[in-house]
Amino acid sequence: MKNYSVKELLTNGTLQQDVVVKGWVRTFRSNRFIALNDGSTINNIQCVIDFENTDKEVLKKITTSAAAEIKGTLVASKGSGQNFEIQVKEIIILGASNPEEYPIQPKKHSLEFLRANAHLRVRTNTFSAVMRVRSALSFAVHQFFQKEGFYYVNTPIVTGSDAEGAGEMFRVSALDAKNPPLTEAGDVDFTEDFFGKETNLTVSGQLEAETYAMAMGKVYTFGPTFRAENSNTTRHLAEFWMIEPEVAFMELDGNMDLAESFIKYVLAYVKETCPDDLAFLEKRLLDEEKTKPQTERSPMPLREKIDFILDNNFKRVSYTEAVEILRNSKPNKKKKFEYLIEEWGADLQSEHERYLVEKHFECPVILFDYPAKIKAFYMRLNEDGKTVRAMDILFPGIGEIVGGSQREERYDVLVEKMKAMGIDEKELSWYLDLRKFGTAVHSGFGLGFERLVLFATGMTNIRDVIPFPRTPKNAEF
Ligand code: 4AD
Ligand code: MG
Repeated sequence: MKNYSVKELLTNGTLQQDVVVKGWVRTFRSNRFIALNDGSTINNIQCVIDFENTDKEVLKKITTSAAAEIKGTLVASKGSGQNFEIQVKEIIILGASNPEEYPIQPKKHSLEFLRANAHLRVRTNTFSAVMRVRSALSFAVHQFFQKEGFYYVNTPIVTGSDAEGAGEMFRVSALDAKNPPLTEAGDVDFTEDFFGKETNLTVSGQLEAETYAMAMGKVYTFGPTFRAENSNTTRHLAEFWMIEPEVAFMELDGNMDLAESFIKYVLAYVKETCPDDLAFLEKRLLDEEKTKPQTERSPMPLREKIDFILDNNFKRVSYTEAVEILRNSKPNKKKKFEYLIEEWGADLQSEHERYLVEKHFECPVILFDYPAKIKAFYMRLNEDGKTVRAMDILFPGIGEIVGGSQREERYDVLVEKMKAMGIDEKELSWYLDLRKFGTAVHSGFGLGFERLVLFATGMTNIRDVIPFPRTPKNAEF
């Protein structure tokens, strides 16, 4: 008899077929009905046991999360909500699970509780659905770029540079912590970190991706990035995955087009390939919404939200226009945003971003041409001398999902900016070389993968869309 996945059986099974299936017991009811899940789909297969003819010792071991091998015949199901169930001929408990000790019971646990059991939480419907959607999105990312003629580049994890110039890096050190080399002044000599070089975990693969774009034209990275910011929010991780395309001969408008079509492509892919998981996550969200006061409920179900993104153009607005809108708007009936009334040039706070996306435009917004002084050194300076060709994409319920720009390709201008921002030219001489030898207009962006997964799954905490979240004080598993 052949091994099948539950998904195969439920979609392609035939009546009276003899099958073997292996998975984990979700529930065991009335000493007869096992709901078996193997992770291939959100759906369980119902396996019906012949109680009288099953070994009593085996019966005792049919408990939640026990691993089981089931041999039987596919028959039509009346009660399970599926077309098929398995009439069990033989059940083998491959790995028992003591119900007194197993922490996750077949009931609704809080997400906080499940986070503390990150190694077992994927055995719940919610987490396995999220992780299947995550997997589908990853595949769609590669599919989109490969179809568009991009090459996948693996940029380094350990690096000597600070791509964002923001100083939010985790140091990587091969030094002997107990006996580190010291400077003449007696301090630890971090320049010796990596056998003679100060090193850190990458905050972005962009600068290295630029070097490849300047030879291979269209490239993208998709890998882990690290930020040593001590932010405990539902949108920040210390370790997150970022997708960073970089394209030669492309200006900012092309960059916006690329980002928008990319996001639409991957969301359409998930809608197409994960209907059951999305339906489950949508129902979960609706149930959750019911526990909230009416005013805080999200008006649109998950799948409608995805459709909304697919069917609407992202609104493109300059920073200056956005500030004007914010100055003239009343977020609540009485009060205006006092913010930015006097001074042009400050960074937008998340309340401003949310207002623009959720109240004013009611669709995703691409904000561009930001003040130079609040953005990274590598962004191309505009003719006005005070704004740069930056773009951020803001998403409903998420905030910033993409940050990107047209890059400064002019050697002299870049050197000037680096000087003004205190960035060491020697450290980035390789980056400056790109502007010396065959420089060209080029652009790219970074999309935070977990923020995309948040949107696609309707989850609200970024810790719940990555298998093992890394946040301040959280690196246990
Ligand atoms: O805006 P950021 O910092 O841009 C860059 O790193 C550029 N080098 C990208 C590029 O142009 N190639 O980060 C890009 C995106 C953000 O828009 C956000 O979605 C995500 O990465 N991001 C985070 N996601 C989770 N946790 C964090 N701490 C994040 N920081 C940024
Ligand atoms: Mg950003």
